[in-house]
Amino acid sequence: MDTLTDFIDRNRERILEELKSFLRIPSISTTPAHAADCRKAAQWVADHLAALGCRQIELLGSDTHPVVWAEGPKRDGRPTVLVYGHYDVQPPDPLELWESPPFEPTERNGDLVARGATDDKGQVFAIVKAFEAVSSNGEPPVNVRFLIEGQEESGSMVLFDLLEREPHRVEADAVLVSDMPYFAPGWPSVETGLRGLCYAEIEVRTLKSDLHSGLYGGVAPNAHETLVHLLARLKSPDGRINIPGLYQAVKRPSKKELEGWKKLPFNERKYLREEVGAKALTGLKGYSPLERTWALPTFEIHGIAGGFTAEGAKTVIPAVATAKVSLRLVPNQRYRTVQRQLAAAVKRLAPKYATVTVRFVHGADPVLVDTSAKPFELIDRAFREVEGRGVVFTRSGGSIPIVPALGKRRAPVILAGIGLPDDRLHAPNEKINLNQFWKGIRVFGRFFELMGTELHRSR
Ligand code: BES
Ligand code: MN
Ligand code: MN
Repeated sequence: MDTLTDFIDRNRERILEELKSFLRIPSISTTPAHAADCRKAAQWVADHLAALGCRQIELLGSDTHPVVWAEGPKRDGRPTVLVYGHYDVQPPDPLELWESPPFEPTERNGDLVARGATDDKGQVFAIVKAFEAVSSNGEPPVNVRFLIEGQEESGSMVLFDLLEREPHRVEADAVLVSDMPYFAPGWPSVETGLRGLCYAEIEVRTLKSDLHSGLYGGVAPNAHETLVHLLARLKSPDGRINIPGLYQAVKRPSKKELEGWKKLPFNERKYLREEVGAKALTGLKGYSPLERTWALPTFEIHGIAGGFTAEGAKTVIPAVATAKVSLRLVPNQRYRTVQRQLAAAVKRLAPKYATVTVRFVHGADPVLVDTSAKPFELIDRAFREVEGRGVVFTRSGGSIPIVPALGKRRAPVILAGIGLPDDRLHAPNEKINLNQFWKGIRVFGRFFELMGTELHRSR
């Protein structure tokens, strides 16, 4: 039996208990009331890494949502792997849809169910345990640095500021990020692209104050009507986004990349029925679902607030209405540019009688990864040995705002998660499949070993 499998066999129960205690901390970064819990989760990670022999442990940049920095034992002449992940999680609501409480991790059918189980505490913890496994004699095969933040789900501002001040933190021979699923069960993937994000709140005010809809209906401008009209004009029913200039920077994937996607095990009917759960897919004609989710921008309305929605009836003309919207961005769009384009489009569509404001909440640039560096071969080998299949190159429609900044000192950024497509991230009953978790420890442990031997020798 190899040392990694042996490590897991001997420590299975303890590791599971540790992961559960991490998952019990409700470190919801998007909710100010949970600031103390975020701090607690950061401290938990820091203490855990200290107990594994890390030094130089720091909580950086914020009292409430600090970035955890830790360095493993120094191995002169060995390559450095920087591990990025996040300890913050999304809010758990709607609570009534959880079969067990979100912050009471529960084992069910080979899964561990809890908020953060896969996004991202469980995946981060698999790397931490891999580090433990390969450090058992106090000498890990590589220099490992941890950069674990607490604001990924709310825009990563603290970490952006930190890396602006201290860019040397991302100097490494490889950056390892595990915060995404396999392409399919049995099909590990390395993401070659992530989408960016431009999140905004649009407010429409049409009146000084709400008015009686009988007395003033027919003359008074309705804020909700104005808002939905405006939103409807931002995107056509055929899926095209009507923001001038938006598609200009969009770069079509290469022929080779598109060919590769065609070979992936993807069944559109199954995807529609089982994963999406709709009657039909929507979006631009002439592009495959993979291209629409990986390589084209989106415009989504997340929610509309204002006016009267309580029980009963109220005859009112609302004075104010707001909508939360976002665009997903693709290479080579820039979120700063898209912010300007959205603001201009809204301004152009706003009727003269309304005061329309756009407030930007957060943004992220898209990511395109060049996978030619040696560490990509090594992660492929690690998966091949553990999973029995090497990686496929895919993209993902999701966003991780800090990823472009992680590559700024030219370290190859490896996006290789161990989740599964049905992990329900951000949704009720989020889970990590425990089999995936144990395999993850072996994959990342093997990656550390290979980085120590192979990259070392090639230099
Ligand atoms: N881990 C996800 C992003 C992700 C999911 C990437 C699946 C690839 C595959 C991350 O925690 C996330 O949810 N990011 C947010 C961005 C943020 C600014 C709110 C997202 O994509 O909505
Ligand atoms: Mn995540
Ligand atoms: Mn997330």
